[in-house]
Amino acid sequence: MEKPGKILELDGISAESVEAHWGLYEAYCKKYNEVMGKLESADRGAANQIYSEYRGLREMLTFAIGGIKNHEVYFNNLSANGGEPSDQIAEQLTKDLGGVDDFITELKAAGMAARGWAFLAWDWQWMRLDLHIGDAQNTFPVWNASPIIALDVYEHAYIADYSTARPKYIEAFIRNLDWNAINETWAGIQATHEALRQ
Ligand SMILES: [Fe+2]
Repeated sequence: MEKPGKILELDGISAESVEAHWGLYEAYCKKYNEVMGKLESADRGAANQIYSEYRGLREMLTFAIGGIKNHEVYFNNLSANGGEPSDQIAEQLTKDLGGVDDFITELKAAGMAARGWAFLAWDWQWMRLDLHIGDAQNTFPVWNASPIIALDVYEHAYIADYSTARPKYIEAFIRNLDWNAINETWAGIQATHEALRQ
């Protein structure tokens, strides 16, 4: 994705920190291309579960894809002027998690419990919102669930601004949630369900 200008004007997350973080995102994109290129010539006949080039590439491909997708949700949902949750998403948050305030409490807990990511995701199959944690770029995905909010709690996301004080960074992340963007994502999910019913 192109770098959105809004992410350089956040409240409590510095432009320097975001620029450095964006550089890591670009590195994931570059490595994805490198892994895909190497996969073309990897020896399928030598594929082996203990060690093989093919195994290593397939495993690292999931890490690179996770690094790209997780960061795209993260950056897309940050803005100092993000508005408020729409009635539609507030209604679903109330149904599944007890309300917007309860969701925020849950997000903070998930952010402290995770070693890499905390997500709010929509489960297309079970038709509900829930939180999931990730310890790396490729853990722990749940089938048929799409991330709507992604909170990066790797230290690179906050060490420049908050040293090791993760709770202060999580507070800043919540202040900068771009609800306008999240509401748009939610409206898209609702429209997709509507179209599938027809
Ligand atoms: Fe990150």
